[in-house]
Amino acid sequence: MAEGPVSYHSGNQTRDNEKSTATNEQAAQMEQAYAQMRRKMRMEEMDKSIKHKIMVLSGKGGVGKSTVSAGLALTLARRGMSVGIMDIDITGPNIPKMLALEEAELHVEEGQIFPAIGPEGIKVISMAFLIEDPDKPVIWRGPIKLGAIQQFIGDVAWGKLDALIIDFPPGTSDEPLTVSQSLPGIDGVVIVTTPQEVALLDSRKSINFAKTVSLPVIGVVENMSGYTLTGSAPAGSSVTIDAPGGVTLELESDENGRWETVLDVFKSGGGEEAAKDLEVPFLGKIPFDPGVVRGGDDGVHRIIADPEGATARSFVDVVDKIMEVVEATERTPVNIR
Ligand SMILES: Nc1ncnc2c1ncn2[C@@H]1O[C@H](COP(=O)(O)OP(=O)(O)OP(=O)(O)O)[C@@H](O)[C@H]1O
Ligand SMILES: [Mg+2]
Repeated sequence: MAEGPVSYHSGNQTRDNEKSTATNEQAAQMEQAYAQMRRKMRMEEMDKSIKHKIMVLSGKGGVGKSTVSAGLALTLARRGMSVGIMDIDITGPNIPKMLALEEAELHVEEGQIFPAIGPEGIKVISMAFLIEDPDKPVIWRGPIKLGAIQQFIGDVAWGKLDALIIDFPPGTSDEPLTVSQSLPGIDGVVIVTTPQEVALLDSRKSINFAKTVSLPVIGVVENMSGYTLTGSAPAGSSVTIDAPGGVTLELESDENGRWETVLDVFKSGGGEEAAKDLEVPFLGKIPFDPGVVRGGDDGVHRIIADPEGATARSFVDVVDKIMEVVEATERTPVNIR
C-alpha cells in the first residue's frame, strides 16, 4: 500500500488486525497516519544520527550546485568521514549521473529505502532513482511534491553519518522550505554563485531565504572563478597573452621557464565582495576547469580523476572553511511538522 505520494515498496506493513475490523478506506487512512508517525520519528532520530546537515542553494540555475555538492561530499569522504548526499532536485536530478550511479538499484526493506553507494563510499539518494523514465518530464502538483520530499527524507535508512549534503534545484521555492521545516538540526546553507553580477544578485535571495527560515548561512562559494593558464618560455622571458575581451596579460616565466596566470573568465572576486557586503562568510573559490564538465558527463568527478589538482585543492580549502564555520555555529532547534 502506498504511504504517500511516492510508492516504492510492496506493503509488508499490512496490519491484518486493524483491517479485519475497519473498512478498506479506514484501514488506508490508519496506514497512512501510522506511516506519517513513523516518518516523523525517523526524522527526529536524524537529528542525532547525522552529525552535520548542509543545504546547498543558489539563486540562479547552472552555477554548479550539484558539482559543488558532489565535490563537498567527496572531499569530506576522503577525510574518512561517513557522508551522504540527498538530491532533492525533482525535475532535474543529476547527482546520479555525476557519480556514475545511473544504473543503481535501490534496496527497499520494511518501508525503508537504502541509499546507493557511490565513489569513496558516499551514500546517495536521488529523486532520479524513483523516476522510471528519465526522459519524461516530471510534473508534480505542489502538495504531492511536498509530500514526496517529506517521505523521501523520512524513509531513507541513512544509518549514522558524519555529514549529509543536500542538493536542491535553483531558487528558494518549495523544496528548501520543506526540507528546512522537516529536517531537524540543519547546520545551515552553503550558497553557490558564479562571479557575474546576475548570479551574485540572486545570492541575496538565498541569503534572505535562509534568514527567513532561521537557518545560518554557512557562507558563499564562488564557482567557475578564474581559469588557470600555464606554459613554458625561456627562463626569465616576458610572455604576452591576448586574453578574451581585449585584455592583455603581461607576465614573466620563472627560472625553470614556467609561467602561470589566472584568466578571469567572467571576472573574479565578486563572490567574496558579495559575501562581505551581505555580512556572511566567504568560503572560497573553485576554478573554472574543463575537467569538471567532462567529469560531470562521464561520472568521474574531477576530485576523483585528479585528487591533487587545483580543483580538488580548492575543495579542500572550502571544506576546511565550512567545517570551521559549522563547528562554531550554534544550531537552532526546528519544530517538525
Ligand atoms: N568549476 C567548474 N568548471 C567548469 N565547469 C563547471 C564548474 N562547475 C560546474 N561546471 C559545469 O557547469 C554545468 C552546470 O553545473 P551543475 O549541474 O553542477 O549546476 P547546478 O547549479 O546544479 O545546475 P541546476 O541549477 O540545473 O541544478 C555542468 O556542465 C558542470 O559540469
Ligand atoms: Mg543541480
